[in-house]
Amino acid sequence: MEYVRLGKSGLKVSRISLGCWNFGSPTPRWGKPGKVTPEDSTRIIQAAVDKGINLLDTANRYTGGEAEEILGRAVRGMRDKVIIATKVHGEVGSGPNDKGQSRQHIMREVESSLKRLGTDYIDLYQAHGVDWETPLEESLRAYDDLIRQGKVRYIGCSNFPAWVLTKALWVSDVNKLASFVSVQPNYSLVNRTVEKELQPLCVDQGIGMILYSPIGGGILTGKYENAVPEGSRGYDEPGVAEKARKAQAAVAQLKAIANELGKTPAQISLNWIIHRPAVSSAIMGVSRLEQLEDNVGAVGWKLSDEHARQLDEAFAEW
Ligand SMILES: NC(=O)c1ccc[n+]([C@@H]2O[C@H](COP(=O)([O-])OP(=O)(O)OC[C@H]3O[C@@H](n4cnc5c(N)ncnc54)[C@H](OP(=O)(O)O)[C@@H]3O)[C@@H](O)[C@H]2O)c1
Repeated sequence: MEYVRLGKSGLKVSRISLGCWNFGSPTPRWGKPGKVTPEDSTRIIQAAVDKGINLLDTANRYTGGEAEEILGRAVRGMRDKVIIATKVHGEVGSGPNDKGQSRQHIMREVESSLKRLGTDYIDLYQAHGVDWETPLEESLRAYDDLIRQGKVRYIGCSNFPAWVLTKALWVSDVNKLASFVSVQPNYSLVNRTVEKELQPLCVDQGIGMILYSPIGGGILTGKYENAVPEGSRGYDEPGVAEKARKAQAAVAQLKAIANELGKTPAQISLNWIIHRPAVSSAIMGVSRLEQLEDNVGAVGWKLSDEHARQLDEAFAEW
C-alpha cells in the first residue's frame, strides 16, 4: 500500500480507502437497509486493514448507525492502526435539532458516534454537507472544542462547494479555530464537476481530497456492458444503470486500455483518479471480498502520461 499526507496535514492515509455506507443488516433500526451483512462487512473491513488500507469512512446515519457499530467492532484490538473517518449533518430523527451542524447537534452526535464506534476519539470528523441555517463560526467553534477535548483529531468536510469551503477556511483563519484539512466530493471519470473550482482550491490551499464514488458506483468496472447484472447497484438504482448506458462508449475505451495493460477497468480508473491533483485517497465501496481484491490492485504503479491523457479525452464530457 502507498500512503500520502492528507492535504498539508501530517496524517498519512492509504491511497485507497474503504467506505462503509452499505454495511449493515437488511432491517436496521432506521434508515437505508444495508447491502452487506454485518458478518461479511467485518470480513471486508479486516481484509482491507490486512492489505494496508488505514482510512475507513463511515457516517453517523449510515444504516441508521449500524455501520459505525460494525466498524467499531471490526477494528477493536487494532484501533491505533486505523483512521476512522465519520460524519455529522444528515438527519437522524424528526426533531428540529436532529440534523445540521448547530453546536447542539454536533456535541450530541459526536457522543453518539463515539459510543457506537466504541472508541474515545474520532480521527477525522467530517461535516457531511453544508448547513445553510447555522453560521459557519458556530460549527467551527464546536469542532475546535472537540479537537481541544481530544474527542476529534482532524476535521474535514464533504459536499461543500468551493466558495463555502473558502469561506470556512477564512472563518477558521480569522478566529484562530481548527481548519478543515480535507474535503470529500464525488469524483471519478464519470463525474468531473470538481475539476472546475474545488480541485484548484484544494491544490492552492493544501486541502486533501478524499473521493467518494471513485468507480462511479461500479460503472467504471465495465460490468454494465451487456446487461445490468442482478444484485448490482445498477439493478437496485435505475439512475446508475442509465448513467452506465450513457457512458458505454467511454467505458469501452477504458476497457481497451485495461486489456492492453493487463489490468482491470476498476484498477485503471482508480489509478487514474488517485494521481489527479490534490487527491489523497479514493474511498471505494465494495459489496464482496473479490471486489476489494480487485480494487487494491490499483495501487503501487502509475499509468503512463499517454494512457492518462487517453482516459482524460475519452471521459472529457463527464
Ligand atoms: N460524503 C458523501 O456524501 C458520500 C456519498 C456516497 C458515498 N460516500 C462514501 O464513499 C464510499 C464509496 O462510495 P461508492 O460505494 O459510491 O463508491 P464506488 O467505489 O464508486 O462504488 C462501489 C460499488 O461499485 C461496485 N464495485 C466496486 N468494486 C467493484 C469491482 N471491482 N467489480 C465490480 N463491481 C465493483 C459495488 O457495487 P455492486 O456490487 O452493488 O454493484 C460497490 O458497492 C461509501 O461507502 C461512503 O463511505 C460518501
